Amino acid sequence: MENTGTIRLGDENFEFPMIVGTEGEKALDTRTLRAKSGCVTFDEGYGNTGSCLSDITFIDGEKGILRHRGYPIEQLAERSTFLETSYLAIYGELPTQEELEIFANGVQTHASVHTGMHHHFEGFPSNAHPMAILSSMLNSLGAYYPEMSSNNRAQDLTHFDETAALLISKVRTIAAMTYRQKQGLPFVFPDYKMRYAENFLHMMFSEPYHQYEDTSGASEALDLFLLLHADHEQNCSTSTVRMVASGGANLFASVSAGVCALWGPSHGGANMAVIKMLEEIHASGDDGSKFIQDAKEGKAKLMGFGHRVYKNYDPRAMILGKSSERVLEGLGIDDPLLDIAKHLEQAALEDEYFVQRKLYPNVDFYSGILLKAIGIPVEMFTVMFAIGRMPGWIANWKEIAENSKSRIHRPRQIYTGHTIRDYLKMDER
Ligand code: SDX
Repeated sequence: MENTGTIRLGDENFEFPMIVGTEGEKALDTRTLRAKSGCVTFDEGYGNTGSCLSDITFIDGEKGILRHRGYPIEQLAERSTFLETSYLAIYGELPTQEELEIFANGVQTHASVHTGMHHHFEGFPSNAHPMAILSSMLNSLGAYYPEMSSNNRAQDLTHFDETAALLISKVRTIAAMTYRQKQGLPFVFPDYKMRYAENFLHMMFSEPYHQYEDTSGASEALDLFLLLHADHEQNCSTSTVRMVASGGANLFASVSAGVCALWGPSHGGANMAVIKMLEEIHASGDDGSKFIQDAKEGKAKLMGFGHRVYKNYDPRAMILGKSSERVLEGLGIDDPLLDIAKHLEQAALEDEYFVQRKLYPNVDFYSGILLKAIGIPVEMFTVMFAIGRMPGWIANWKEIAENSKSRIHRPRQIYTGHTIRDYLKMDER
């Protein structure tokens, strides 16, 4: 293939270099387009625009492939843990036993939250959404660690390892504290003997009179849920983290912005929307057939279906579907929502409307059923997504922070407003 590409504008040809990634993805490098031609590209939603070169995650949407640093998600799901995969995404290689122990100890030692931040929770109204609380608490963390949030890039990078472990740990503690505060329950302190997901469930559900005990494999299923959410290349929230990082902002501010971007129902908010959709279908007595018809007529959206990149099955949905069945069996729960979800999936996969638009279940379709089975309240579902995505956001921030050539993200626009008007000639109003 030619290593250049040509754009013809009017009677002029403009030549640009081609960039080819390690998996054969091709891009026309148009960084000099405006200087050469006075023209910019227009790509609302960035569906055809590469914003960066990245080594972290590869997705082939047509084939339903997802790999972190070259390792297929199916293999990581089968053999790895959330912390090991977090290390892989952030540092680029699987950790040795010793490296993993150091990383895990860093996460454990940072599990508690400064008592000054305990009072922040009292300031939120009881109906405050957990994502609003999480984004503000993550940014507030920076105030307690000024040496890690100086916005002096060289200084922030010297503290990177500790900041990364601290954020992966405290996002989990803050989530559990948010739940306890909203339930009017006392905070539960972390147990340093427990593994990551088990410690979260302990901080969520232990009581002074009864320590949470995982008897159904819930913590293993939750660890898998978090692993499957670890990173997903330049999705809406990760691109937001990179946008904020590109201006030189610290990691706390960048991931706090990522939480805000993740909250929307088209993105991470979809896992909450899926459960609400399934519950409404169940309450209506419909087996999903009428809902499918409504979706085809544009009256409803089949939440948890469709994806900007995957035009095949999202591999994470496949794994989560099986995991939710296992957890429900382990808990002896016969959840009608799972039957409705499986009916919707089967019907959609056979229906021309969905087949033609290549709409398949995505990561959010089954994840809510799993979280609900574990006992996580629906309004915390997107918070769980944020806990899982934290290592991906950190890895992407690091990729920008360590690139001395990275520039502030500042897209162009095409102005379509009023042309010049004379304010001074305005009649007396
Ligand atoms: C995540 O980017 C990532 O990697 C995200 C993520 C990650 O790990 O970070 O994978 C996590 O955000 C998964 C997506 C979760 N969102 C949902 O499940 C919400 C429901 N899905 C849709 O909103 C939609 O599919 C998007 C937002 C996911 C993708 O939107 P696109 O790529 O902009 O597609 P589109 O809206 O242009 O839809 C194309 C067509 C349209 O029909 P026509 O105009 O051609 O007739 O497909 C239809 C849409 O109406 N369509 C759907 C549909 N999704 C798209 N119709 C019914 N139900 C749906 N879910």
